[in-house]
Amino acid sequence: NWSMENYIEKTIKEIRERVGDKKVILALSGGVDSSVAAVLIHKAIGDNLNCFFVDTGLMRKDEAKKVMETYGKNFKMNIECINAEDRFLTKLKGITDPEEKRKIIGKEFIDIFEEQKQKFKDADFLAQGTIYPDVIESQSIKGPSSTIKSHHNVGGLPEEMEFELLEPLRELFKDEVRKVGKELGIPEYMIDRHPFPGPGLGIRILGEVTKEKADILREADDIFIEELRKNKLYDKVSQAFVVLLPVKSVGVMGDERTYEYTAVLRSANTTDFMTATWSHLPYELLEKVSNRIINEVKGINRLAYDISSKPPATIEWE
Ligand code: XMP
Repeated sequence: NWSMENYIEKTIKEIRERVGDKKVILALSGGVDSSVAAVLIHKAIGDNLNCFFVDTGLMRKDEAKKVMETYGKNFKMNIECINAEDRFLTKLKGITDPEEKRKIIGKEFIDIFEEQKQKFKDADFLAQGTIYPDVIESQSIKGPSSTIKSHHNVGGLPEEMEFELLEPLRELFKDEVRKVGKELGIPEYMIDRHPFPGPGLGIRILGEVTKEKADILREADDIFIEELRKNKLYDKVSQAFVVLLPVKSVGVMGDERTYEYTAVLRSANTTDFMTATWSHLPYELLEKVSNRIINEVKGINRLAYDISSKPPATIEWE
């Protein structure tokens, strides 16, 4: 019979016994799984855990800052923030095909990961936030998600093993991981977050990805999420975000004609992410978000709401 206190205590003890005074490395994405794994392992072995966070330049607003503050400053974990924005954006220059973008982003991740492994050659363990559904998925034949779109998560990257794997969450379901995270004192807003795809804003900026567009999208997305939270709707939808289209349209602001980007609000409700319906968000909220984004975000002058279900649409636009 599973109890939270037992689980945490037992797992910390197991990690200590297994790792001893050896070193562990972990790629911290800021997502629930890698974060909870990191905090658990840190409780067990302290400074012998070395984390790194890769800022791809395709993260949400203040993501690197939040991760460094929460886990570096508050939990006092060893984390290096690798600023790889230039690397990713340079590789993505001129690329418009969604799958090609995914491959480029995935490959760059692997390269950085390999560099980190080189850097921490003296470590014996590679820790990952693998959870039970990941274990099951990797044992089954490819599901639709892996055949329709190639997924690149930091989770299961490198195949060849110079390190022993340390996966303390292997037996847990997502809701259990969240409970463990809360029990360990991770702030709620870091635990209850919607899923965020590995390629990040790279697949929410349709067409070519540039820093200018990423900055615009970050601001717009942040406003949408802030308003959902303020109106207690964030937890009522499964995933919500803004998509930036490579389309400009004419608008008017004051006495001036504008010619700026069009963005789309996307919010989906689902239990398994295989099928989804669009969220029936209140008009008042949509109106507020629209006014705020168009007034506050320079570069967007028109906003649409995505009313497509999955299938036949997908949740993401690329
Ligand atoms: P779609 O767009 O296929 O998305 O309906 C279903 C879920 O998967 C996420 N998604 C990804 N996650 N790497 C990821 O880690 C990816 O390349 C990727 N593509 C889609 C999407 O955010 C949604 O939760």
